[in-house]
Amino acid sequence: MYQPKSGFFRMYRDEVGLNPNVGTWSWLLHRITGVILVLYLFMHFLALSSSVGGADSFNAWISNLQTPLTHVLEIGLAAVVAFHLLNGLRITVADFFYLTKPHKALFWIAMVIFAVLMVITLVVFLGRAFSPQH
Ligand code: HEM
Repeated sequence: MYQPKSGFFRMYRDEVGLNPNVGTWSWLLHRITGVILVLYLFMHFLALSSSVGGADSFNAWISNLQTPLTHVLEIGLAAVVAFHLLNGLRITVADFFYLTKPHKALFWIAMVIFAVLMVITLVVFLGRAFSPQH
């Protein structure tokens, strides 16, 4: 029987090495995107907390964030949110409706929706990121 070895990264290396399949990659990506969202939440609170100093303080924060780099990072954030949301819904649907057998098909359906959302996101955000108004 497989005995997980201790060590933070070893567990991930073993999991990916022993089960390099759709379920493992989606599990890993779900965890990575979940952790990124937690980290982002703190930055989001930090930005919103500037409003305690009044409208000018908040507006100063927001205007400092209007750069091509932050708009490109927003595309990454949209990708992280879209993946976590769609894969999370897939897991929830599979769990609640006993659809674990077609879970790979559900994953690819989620990824098609993800691709469509990302094309729309790229069209909208890339236009903003490189617009001369910044
Ligand atoms: C957008 C709507 C969201 C949906 C539908 C969703 C769904 C889920 C589901 C179903 C799980 C459990 C995965 C499993 O059982 O294997 C999960 C895990 C997790 N979610 Fe979300 N989530 C959402 C938003 C968020 C947000 C906003 C954050 C962070 C602020 C977050 C952070 C996490 C973390 C850290 C985990 C644990 C991942 C792991 O242990 O592998 N999620 N999410």
